[in-house]
Amino acid sequence: MEFMLDTANITDIKKFTDYLPISGVTSNPSIVKKEGKIDFFQHMKDIRSIIGEHRSLHVQVVATDYEGIIQDAETILTKIDQKVFIKIPVNEPGLKAIKELKRRGVNVTATAIYTKFQAYLAIAAGADYIAPYFNRMENLNIDPREAIFEMAEEIARTKSETKILAASFKNVGQVNAALENGSQAATMGVDIIQQALAMPSIAQAVSDFTGDWEVIFGEGTTIT
Ligand code: E4P
Repeated sequence: MEFMLDTANITDIKKFTDYLPISGVTSNPSIVKKEGKIDFFQHMKDIRSIIGEHRSLHVQVVATDYEGIIQDAETILTKIDQKVFIKIPVNEPGLKAIKELKRRGVNVTATAIYTKFQAYLAIAAGADYIAPYFNRMENLNIDPREAIFEMAEEIARTKSETKILAASFKNVGQVNAALENGSQAATMGVDIIQQALAMPSIAQAVSDFTGDWEVIFGEGTTIT
C-alpha cells in the first residue's frame, strides 16, 4: 500500500512525513490555490527537499491543449526535477500527451478519472499511475468500488505496470474501500488522517490504560 498526501502545505507535509509512512505528495491547481500566491516552482522544490527523492512528487499541468501540456511538462521537469510525475487529466489532448511523454520516458500520473473507460485508455497509454476520483464518482452515482475493482482487473489482464492511485476522498471509509477493491495507492488530505486518528474510542482506551497503570504504580509514573 502506498499512502500519499494530497496537499501543498509545507507545514503539513513536514509533520505528516515525519510520523507516517508516506510515499508521495500530490496536488492540483485547486490544492495549490489554498497556499496563496506562492512562488510555484520554489514551493514545489521545497516540497521535494522535504520528501526526498525516494518519495514521489506529482505535479499537475495547467495547459489544456496538447502542445501546451507538453510544454508544461517540460517546464515542470526542468524547473523542479526529472523525477516528477506529471499529472495529466485524461481527455483527448491529455491522452495524446501521456502517450508522448511515456515515449520519452517521463513519469506520468493520469488524473481526473471518473470512468472505467478513461482508466482503460490511460493504462493502454502507459501511465504509471491512474487517479480515479472516488468521492466525485460517488457524487455522480458512478460506483467507485466496482470501477476500481475493474481497473485492477484490467491492469492484471493486460499485465500492465500501471498502479491505481485513488484520490478525491472525503472520509476514511472511502479510502478503505478504494484499497480493498484493488488500489495500490491512495492520496488524501491530512484532514482524513486526523479524522481517523482522532476517534474518541482511541483516546478513551489510552486514558483507561494510563488510569489502570497509575492505580498500581502511582500517579504520573511510566515504565521508564
Ligand atoms: C488528486 O490529486 C486529485 O486532484 C484530488 O484528490 C481531487 O480531490 P477533490 O475531489 O477533493 O477536489
